[in-house]
Amino acid sequence: MTLLDILPSLGHAAPPRFDPAIWPITAHPDEEGRLCVGGVPLADIADEFGTPAYVVDETDFRHRARRYRKALRDIQVVYAGKSLLTTAVARWAREEGLGIDVCSGGELAVALAGGIDPARIIMHGNAKSPDELRDAVRVGVGRIVVDSCMEIAYLAGLVRRRQPVLIRVTPDIDIHGHRAVTTGISDQKFGFTLAGDHTADAVDRVLAHPILDLVGLHCHIGSQVTDPGLYGEAIHRLIAAMADIRTRHGVILTELNLGGGHAIPYVPGDPELDLDELARVIDDALDEACAAEHFPRPSVVVEPGRAISGRAGITLYRVCSVKTQSGGRTFVAVDGGMSDNPRVSLYGARYTVALANRHPLGLKQRVTVAGRHCESGDEIARDIELPADLHPGDLLAVACTGAYHHSMASNYNMVGRPAVVGVRDGRARELVRRETIADLLARDRG
Ligand SMILES: Cc1ncc(COP(=O)(O)O)c(C=O)c1O
Repeated sequence: MTLLDILPSLGHAAPPRFDPAIWPITAHPDEEGRLCVGGVPLADIADEFGTPAYVVDETDFRHRARRYRKALRDIQVVYAGKSLLTTAVARWAREEGLGIDVCSGGELAVALAGGIDPARIIMHGNAKSPDELRDAVRVGVGRIVVDSCMEIAYLAGLVRRRQPVLIRVTPDIDIHGHRAVTTGISDQKFGFTLAGDHTADAVDRVLAHPILDLVGLHCHIGSQVTDPGLYGEAIHRLIAAMADIRTRHGVILTELNLGGGHAIPYVPGDPELDLDELARVIDDALDEACAAEHFPRPSVVVEPGRAISGRAGITLYRVCSVKTQSGGRTFVAVDGGMSDNPRVSLYGARYTVALANRHPLGLKQRVTVAGRHCESGDEIARDIELPADLHPGDLLAVACTGAYHHSMASNYNMVGRPAVVGVRDGRARELVRRETIADLLARDRG
């Protein structure tokens, strides 16, 4: 009789402390139990750069970008800069062969400073200002995605040379996700509805200006989409719309931009959009829709954001206090919160949290990780298991915070925004420095 016969549970490997589906691909504990990312112990980063800190694993970011290019071979991959953008991140995207989608003058400036070829930039936004449009036209962005009739009028007055544009349409596809990130239905602010004559009117207006070169249609059905079939449905509806434009105007659009929104897991067991499956669905839907409409196959563009930057990022917090209230809940208060992570209060997002500076003891307790801000809803993770011996000074790492954290951070309670620290091959480098009180006062004119 072997030990395995006596203790069958020994035959099952314990789940890894850092689930590879959620943490950056380089995440692992060292002998002291400290979580390392990019070959750097996060405890060292906290000591050097302070907390809270956003840590971004360059290797993970590049790995996701390569995975996209491999899985979606004939498809142009344009990284959604709104998810995470610094000049270094723009450079990684460029070096991995991705374009960048931007939706403000600020994002445009960062992408350009990161060395992105303007021809590979797509300009988005439902309320672009005339100045933003002027800048985009002046630097020669490759595509402008128009979102309103007013914008078409502005653009027509601005352009002096041929400007490729796409029209953003809403195909009336409901992803059944959070209302704030459901953008493919008709009853929301983006784009022109396919139903009715809104899209047809926008097409008429763009085509009336020969210098505005209508090259295609765009849609973004929402975020955290797990079912690739929804993109297939979008293709059917957009190809039908393109065939209609051909009938009415004799113009053949050659580009179909499907936006982003590809789901990633935030907590163990969350589903993820399967990229190989997405590639098959896109291919099949294009075959079917183009055959049905006798329409030439357009080139396809996708704009993933979080699926490239999300898992590369971790937020580091220092534990400030641990207390059990008379209601029975134990609160672990950390030195950040809704100013560096607004997604919990915005969408009820859930996160995976781990002790990062040492081995955990065997015993666990159920706690709520709370932020430092003046709202009781300021929570990072509710009712999660953390080591029972957690104490002030410990370091917590929150996974999957690469996307929509640095880019959505605020100064609530006059708290400076955290540094962004890039890690790779055992080295840490500050990509964006921490905001200081002097920075905050510098804008105040007294
Ligand atoms: C037009 C457009 N493209 C791409 C994205 C990226 O979405 P995600 O980060 O969920 O992939 C967004 C997100 O809001 C978007 O609005």
